[in-house]
Amino acid sequence: MAEYKKVTPYENVVDSKKSQVTSMFDKVAPYYDFLNRLLSLRIDVLWRKKALRMLEKEQPKVILDIATGTADMAIMSTKIWSPEKIIGLDISKEMLRVGQTKIDKKNLANIISLENGDSENLHFEDESFDTVMAAFGVRNFENLEKGLSEMNRVLQKNGSCMILEFSKPRVFPLKQIFNIYFKYILPVIGKLTSKDPKAYEYLYKSVQVFPDYDNFASILKKTGFVDVTYKPLSFGICTIYLAKK
Ligand SMILES: C[S@@+](CC[C@H](N)C(=O)[O-])C[C@H]1O[C@@H](n2cnc3c(N)ncnc32)[C@H](O)[C@@H]1O
Repeated sequence: MAEYKKVTPYENVVDSKKSQVTSMFDKVAPYYDFLNRLLSLRIDVLWRKKALRMLEKEQPKVILDIATGTADMAIMSTKIWSPEKIIGLDISKEMLRVGQTKIDKKNLANIISLENGDSENLHFEDESFDTVMAAFGVRNFENLEKGLSEMNRVLQKNGSCMILEFSKPRVFPLKQIFNIYFKYILPVIGKLTSKDPKAYEYLYKSVQVFPDYDNFASILKKTGFVDVTYKPLSFGICTIYLAKK
């Protein structure tokens, strides 16, 4: 697997991808949930549910939600699984602040705790979780293999990893429609609503360069995962990757 080209939110800025991604999400945090629902026409909620249902039979109990953001996946998982403990980790304090408000409102603080931290340097012991998941997070890592290896390290033997990430539709005319929407329409709506003109341009660019399908599956294998499978959703706009340790 060739090294993929990295893009950063703010071109011509010397800061690392990690620090640019952190400040971008700090800025968009207040608008993030609203824009997700608007720009995906609420389809993201269906994608999330579908991904969580893939592990419904396993009913994981101790879960790490990597790049948890505003904690949507952690919160939604309490309706589909019966978790005892979920740790949601994110590098952006502002995303976590929004997430914490949602958790408090739903009285889920006894199950979900949020932590500010870097997915590429986890402080947890080896094999601490029976499931690790990441929704729309891994594309933003500075060092993808390091982040995935860390997810693998903290996962129990035979535990499950579930990753939901954007991919590129390959079939006509979806590929073309998706491209026009993602490249031209979505950044304009994002610019008007999020107060960060670059954030939704970065979304398009980062999806274009990010490995998907078999390419991403081989990186999962390279970083220690086995039994890697994937399921494209909505003609490949995003994909659920499942793997075991
Ligand atoms: C597109 S958001 C996804 C949030 C959430 N998982 C969801 O499904 O809505 C990406 C998140 O990844 C976080 N992130 C990016 N790099 C990270 C890293 N190295 N460690 C922890 N969080 C990171 C960002 O701060 C942001 O909250």
